[in-house]
Amino acid sequence: MPLVTLSSVLKKAQKERYAVPSFNFSGIEDLRGILDAAQEVKSPVIVMTSVNIGKYWGIKGVAAYVRAMAADMDVPVVLHQDHTKDVETLKQCVDLGYTSVMIDASERPFEENVELSNRVAEYAHAFGVSVEAELGHISGAEEGAGDSDEMLTRPQDAQRFMELVEADALAVAVGTAHGFYTKPPKLDFDRLVKIGELTKVPLVLHGGSGVAEPDFVRSIECGITKINVGTELRYEIMQNLKKNFAADPDEVDIRKLVSSGRGVITEVAKHKMELFGSAGKA
Ligand code: 13P
Repeated sequence: MPLVTLSSVLKKAQKERYAVPSFNFSGIEDLRGILDAAQEVKSPVIVMTSVNIGKYWGIKGVAAYVRAMAADMDVPVVLHQDHTKDVETLKQCVDLGYTSVMIDASERPFEENVELSNRVAEYAHAFGVSVEAELGHISGAEEGAGDSDEMLTRPQDAQRFMELVEADALAVAVGTAHGFYTKPPKLDFDRLVKIGELTKVPLVLHGGSGVAEPDFVRSIECGITKINVGTELRYEIMQNLKKNFAADPDEVDIRKLVSSGRGVITEVAKHKMELFGSAGKA
């Protein structure tokens, strides 16, 4: 089927209380592994490019490739541009057929975040493309496990933000961070519930690699509808590649070294789909 919007998959997830996994991909093996998982367990799925991966592949090529893959599938696939600060890049993603984009103006003052997020929403919505915004700031795990009070999303601010911004999903800082954690993250579930009550918007949990499984389940009960996972997939596919390379360092066909990564990713992604409750929801 054609690519679908973030808004369409998250509205259903919010109503039926599950979360749609959103995976960062770097290459063809992990992308196809993720899509295989969605097809096998009948789950909606979001595949995301970062700014750097967009530059590495060329977003024109990414958009064309993912669109072609999704067309042959019978589960909903969203192509999403992750954390982007630059409005022009996001407009380009919209023009090329992405069905969702994330404006990350979370390091800017509140009013500027509102203004930039709305500027992106106005453009994207004119083309039927969804928008995720961020309030509070989700850091890198190396900066601390995202638990500095300063950076967490304040529920009253989230309410005001969503009164002013036409976003379809809101990324919140509730104790997670990007990258592998140096100490276990402590999620602020009360804060999450309050944000959900005051905003009613589908909420997004970033920094999914290394979050304990019961914490995922509880965060979904508290209103999370999209969960981002990146580092864990990169780690697993690299472990597989290192193993293959060690077993045959003289191999000259790159496909023999990388292609089994696809199945490794499928297993990890399927497990997340079962855990997040999205399996069977396509
Ligand atoms: P991890 O790489 O920590 O899983 O985070 C992914 C993410 O939140 C991308 O926006």
